[in-house]
Amino acid sequence: MLAPIDTRLMALLSLPRNAVGAEIGVHEGAFSREIVRIAQPKRLYLIDPWLLFPGETYADSWYGTRRATQDIMDARHAHVAATFQRQIEAGSVRILRALSVDAALMIADDELDFVYVDGDHSYEGVTADLSAYGPKLKVGGLLVADDYMLGSWWKDGVVRAVNDLIGRGQYAIEFKMGSQIALRKLTG
Ligand SMILES: C[S@@+](CC[C@H](N)C(=O)[O-])C[C@H]1O[C@@H](n2cnc3c(N)ncnc32)[C@H](O)[C@@H]1O
Repeated sequence: MLAPIDTRLMALLSLPRNAVGAEIGVHEGAFSREIVRIAQPKRLYLIDPWLLFPGETYADSWYGTRRATQDIMDARHAHVAATFQRQIEAGSVRILRALSVDAALMIADDELDFVYVDGDHSYEGVTADLSAYGPKLKVGGLLVADDYMLGSWWKDGVVRAVNDLIGRGQYAIEFKMGSQIALRKLTG
């Protein structure tokens, strides 16, 4: 039997090497490790507030009250900081512990060659990320969104937000593989 394809790892193979990138939504850094291993970025921003989100909407998310506590979120941040200590000291990884829209203020326009969007999966959250990080991405850069599918708690949030962006015509679909969708920025 053929082994199943890991579409998230396949998506990573499409990222430019030795480039500047960002991962929005880091959790415990498992995927960040793969980005570093496969894309070998010159600089990678790891963006996550590691903040417990109160309220029923987020309760079943990895950062909601049924699956985490603030102590757990703090421990995840500490784990990521320890995992990337060497790269942080070398300057190739920067952790921005902040909500993505606030972290965007610490990144220059046209600085990013790629951004991996995997933070707040609500329609409003993804829409805010696409809007805040669009200007940060160079023309020709790649925006990859995870969980482009109908989800559990986030329902059609990711699909609708990404489709809105596609509909505006500034990006072309590079590929859609499993629940990964990659868009190429066409114009500034
Ligand atoms: C699905 S997890 C990320 C998983 C990670 N990319 C991986 O593949 O291992 C979602 C993460 O998004 C973070 N998050 C939620 N809202 C966010 C926001 N507004 N800005 C940045 N990160 C956010 C959560 O704290 C959580 O760690």
